[in-house]
Amino acid sequence: MNKYPLTTVVEKLPATVPFVGPETQERQSKIPFKTRLGANENVFGPSPKAIAAMKNVLDDIWMYGDSENHDLRQALAKFHGIGYENIVVGEGIDALLGYTCRMFVEPGTKVVTSKGAYPTFNYHVSGNGGELHFAPFEGDHENPQALLELANARGAVLIYFSNPNNPMGSWHNADVVQNLIDNIRPGTILVLDEAYIEMAPEGVAPKFDVSNPGVLRFRTFSKAYGMAGARIGYCIGEAGLIAQMEKVRNHFGVNRIAQAGALAALEDQDYLQQTIAEITTARDEIGRIATKHGLSVLPSAANFVAIDCAKDGEYTLSLANYMSQKGVFIRRPGIAPQSRCIRVSAGRAGDLLRFDKVLGDALAAV
Ligand SMILES: Cc1ncc(COP(=O)(O)O)c(C=O)c1O
Repeated sequence: MNKYPLTTVVEKLPATVPFVGPETQERQSKIPFKTRLGANENVFGPSPKAIAAMKNVLDDIWMYGDSENHDLRQALAKFHGIGYENIVVGEGIDALLGYTCRMFVEPGTKVVTSKGAYPTFNYHVSGNGGELHFAPFEGDHENPQALLELANARGAVLIYFSNPNNPMGSWHNADVVQNLIDNIRPGTILVLDEAYIEMAPEGVAPKFDVSNPGVLRFRTFSKAYGMAGARIGYCIGEAGLIAQMEKVRNHFGVNRIAQAGALAALEDQDYLQQTIAEITTARDEIGRIATKHGLSVLPSAANFVAIDCAKDGEYTLSLANYMSQKGVFIRRPGIAPQSRCIRVSAGRAGDLLRFDKVLGDALAAV
């Protein structure tokens, strides 16, 4: 007899989390991070208009947020040229991925993703008892054809595909993604994670087709909009499918500060473009620093850069650990071959100066 009357699924889950957060790491090491470039947050932060809008509703925090996220959904519908009924707002993509798994995954359900792709999705699949099947990356890209073939071979209900992807920052153009969408078999849903899409070049996002019941697309205010701490994102899909998510989501999960901030951030597209320019500059600077230290970088369409250290995961872990001891938070992807890289988020000039110095020290020490 077990101590707690847990479900069989939960009982079997490991006690690991997809990411150990920087605060946890600081508490463990007792060394505060002076430079925080490990969580793909956007150090440039949200639009001042979004900050003002959030401050403006602080006194109203005694009230639950609007459970339908009405104003934001309406603004998003207009912005994307789709219907209100095609959008559901949630507590970031992470929560929305959780709802998606709750909708489609039960013990034994087969789900396909790429080996070494975004682990929080896997966490939710496992949390519902799903069976994960992995297609390898190809040349540091997620491989849509391999995902399709594996999904067909295994009879998968979900295919996860991130474009651009974390941790490599690589991307596929819209025609490749559209081809994936067009070839999904009935009975399979494509989970298209576009967390970084605002920072990708033109022509990476396919046109929305909200008549297609086989695709859910995920966007967030955490990355380009600089509001990771507010926990707000959204999912776009066919109206009937979105209505199904309404049955499982946490209806008062998004707080009113996040709602007000996201709406104001969306309305300040000039600021978004300014941030994207700063991120591009920072990406170039990370490339320059890596080259200076004899390393190469992978092209990135996101707010981070994967630096290829051309050694194994143990080496890159030692580098990351050394840097963390010196107060610089970066990450090392957990799985080979991606683990030959370290992943560094775009930072301000001061962050990158410290990163440069500590990377040099780490390379000399490790
Ligand atoms: C691919 C991908 N999807 C989703 C997320 C999380 O998004 P959110 O903050 O909206 O939960 C991240 C964050 O790192 C990510 O890299």
